[in-house]
Amino acid sequence: MSGKSFFAAEQPTSFVFTDENLRRAQAHIAKYPAGKQASAILPLFHIVQEQHDNWIPRAAMNYVADMLEMPRIKAYEVATFYSMFNMAPVGRHTIEVCTTTPCWLRGSADLVDACQRRLGITLNETTADRHFTLREVECLGACVNAPMIQIGEHYYEDLTRESMVGIIDDLVAGREPKPGSQTRKYGSMNDSGTTTLIDEARQLGVAVQETV
Ligand code: FES
Repeated sequence: MSGKSFFAAEQPTSFVFTDENLRRAQAHIAKYPAGKQASAILPLFHIVQEQHDNWIPRAAMNYVADMLEMPRIKAYEVATFYSMFNMAPVGRHTIEVCTTTPCWLRGSADLVDACQRRLGITLNETTADRHFTLREVECLGACVNAPMIQIGEHYYEDLTRESMVGIIDDLVAGREPKPGSQTRKYGSMNDSGTTTLIDEARQLGVAVQETV
């Protein structure tokens, strides 16, 4: 976990699922055998965030823990461990910059700096208009196309300071930035192009797409 250790200062005093979300929660719980209901905690927290403006108040953690008959402290541990769960209100777009070693070696510090300058906030802050939250996260598993970020469900890879600012500009203007590699790569590959298993593929007569 990185940059999300803080509970919101203002917390609602109670939380309950809507009827529809309660049905969804019960469907997840029913997937597990008796006594193992706690295994449903991740999908239930996702439902909480959908219902509650994309963050999980403490009352909802207690509610889910009680529903799953597990100690509340264990629910807190799960909620605060995963960077996809927010402990306080966030902006419409949460920019998560990977700053783990491969991304750092490839310029993630420049991306953080570019975001901070463009948005006028620092890490773990949200812009006054609540459009953007900026966060650093640990490895997101796309190291081959480092440096990279995640916004919502999309990865943006092979970034530079300029392309990072371009993505923010697109979002500010209401445009949908192109996800994936921001260079001519079409997947996870070396800067010099595809290498792994190319020869074997050719020997087998498999078509190899060369884009770099
Ligand atoms: S180090 Fe950034 S994606 Fe793995």
